[in-house]
Amino acid sequence: MAVPFVQDWDLVQTLGEGAYGEVRLLVNRQTGEAVAVKVVDTSRAADCAENMKKEVCINRLLSHAAIVRYFGHRREGPTQYLFLEYCSGGELFDRIEPDVGMPESDAHRFFQQLMAGVEYLHSVGITHRDIKPENLLLDEGDNLKISDFGLATMFRHRGRERRLGRLCGTMPYVAPELLSPGEFHAPPVDLWACGIVLTAMLAGELPWDQPSESCQEYSDWLQKKTFLTPWKKINAAPLSLLSRMLLHDPDKRITIPDIKKDRWYCRSFRTGAKRLSSSSGGQCDSQGSGNKMLRADSEQTGRTRREEGAQVSSSQPEPVTALGSWEVGGGSVPGVGQLLSFSQPACPEHMLLSSQLLGTPGSSQGPWQRLVRRMTRFFTAVGEDRTCSALRDVCLGMGHTWKQSCTNQVTVSTTDRRNNKLIFKVHLLEMEQRILVDFRLSKGDGLEFKRLFLKIKQQLGDIVSHQKVSLPLPVT
Ligand code: ADE
Repeated sequence: MAVPFVQDWDLVQTLGEGAYGEVRLLVNRQTGEAVAVKVVDTSRAADCAENMKKEVCINRLLSHAAIVRYFGHRREGPTQYLFLEYCSGGELFDRIEPDVGMPESDAHRFFQQLMAGVEYLHSVGITHRDIKPENLLLDEGDNLKISDFGLATMFRHRGRERRLGRLCGTMPYVAPELLSPGEFHAPPVDLWACGIVLTAMLAGELPWDQPSESCQEYSDWLQKKTFLTPWKKINAAPLSLLSRMLLHDPDKRITIPDIKKDRWYCRSFRTGAKRLSSSSGGQCDSQGSGNKMLRADSEQTGRTRREEGAQVSSSQPEPVTALGSWEVGGGSVPGVGQLLSFSQPACPEHMLLSSQLLGTPGSSQGPWQRLVRRMTRFFTAVGEDRTCSALRDVCLGMGHTWKQSCTNQVTVSTTDRRNNKLIFKVHLLEMEQRILVDFRLSKGDGLEFKRLFLKIKQQLGDIVSHQKVSLPLPVT
C-alpha cells in the first residue's frame, strides 16, 4: 500500500561529515518534519559494517532527553542509513567562543544536561568513549543531546562490569589511563572527557594535546599551576570541580553522585527573566533521583526558552536566528517562521519505508541552508567570483592548501597551532543577491577550526557584509 508522504522527504543539506560518511538533513515537504540521517558506506573499511551493527544496537537501547533520539535504520546494499533526531541548534562547540568560552550560566546548564545524559548512559551500562563538543548537539530549545555512538560500547552487562583496554576517542579529551598499559574502568574515562568539555566551555580552549607528562601543559596541571591559562580564566567554584574531574588517578576521580553534590554544580544561576530556565537541575540531588528530575527539567527548559524567544525577540537586541548570534546576515528571511516550527517525525516508520527516500538531490542548496545554527559562516557584499578569489588569496597567503572540489566548494587543508591536521570545506552559495560563505570542519579540532575561521573572516573584513536583519517572531 502506498504511504501518502513517503516520497516527500527532501534532502536538504549536509549537517556534518566524518571518516564514517555524512549526516544529512531530511525535511518532509508537506508536514515540515525534520530528521537527520547518517549515511555510511560500509564498503569503505573492513570493520565498518560490524561497527554500524553495534551502533544500531546501542542506539536501540537508549531513550533519554539528553541523548539524540534514534528512529530507525535502513540498508541499501553497502550503504546504511541511521535516522536520528534533528538538532537544529547545531553543535555545542559552535557556542564556544575561542579563547573566551561562553557565559558561566550557559556552561552550567549545558554541563548539568551533559551529566544527566552520561549518568543515564552509565546506568544502562554504556560508555560513549568520544565525548567532545562536536558530539554534543543542541535542539531548538537549546537542550543538549549526546550524539554519535560510533565508538560507544557496553561496559556492564547483567550487573557485571567489563574493564576496557582499547585506546579510543580524541586525544585532547582522552583520560591519562588510556595512555598507560593495562585495563581501566569506563565511567571515569567519560567523566574526564566531560571535564575537558567544561574547561572548553569556560575558557574557550583545550588545556592540552594529550594528558601525558611529556606534554608541558599537562605537567603544569599536575603541579597545580592554576595561575596559567586556561585555569586562570575559570572562577574558583567551577575550577574546584574541574580539579576533581581531571584527577590523574581514575580511582580518586570524582564520580557522578559526588558531582551532583558539588557546590558549583548545585548553585543556581537565576539572573532575571532571561535566565528563568537555568534553574533546571539547579537543586542539589544527593538522593540519586537526579536523572528523572533533570530530564523533566530539561524538557521544561526547552519550553521556557522558546517562550522567552518569542517574548524577547521584539524588544531585545539579540534576535533568535538559525544563523547563530555572531553574525546575522541576509535581508528579509522567507521561511524563517517555518524553520522554527520544525517538528520531529510523528511516524518515522513511513520514512523508513520509502524506497525513494534519498533520491531527491538538488535541493541541498537555497534558503534551507539557513536551517542549522552555525557560527562559521558569513555573507559577503560582493559577487561569487570576487568572494572566491579574495578567499583564495587569504587562504594561500596564510599558507594553507587550496583545492577546488566543485564550482562552489573548496577544500582547505592546513595544520593548527598544535601542528595537528585541520581540513575544512567552504561552500559559496548565492542567497538573495548576496554570497553566503559557509565553512564546515572535515577533520581536526573544532576550536582550532573556529579560531582559523575568525582569522580568515577578519582578513576578508572589507568584503564581509555586516548588514543586520530583524527576524520575524518564531512560530511556537
Ligand atoms: N550533525 C550530526 N548529527 C546531527 C543531528 N542529529 N542533528 C543536527 N546536526 C547533526
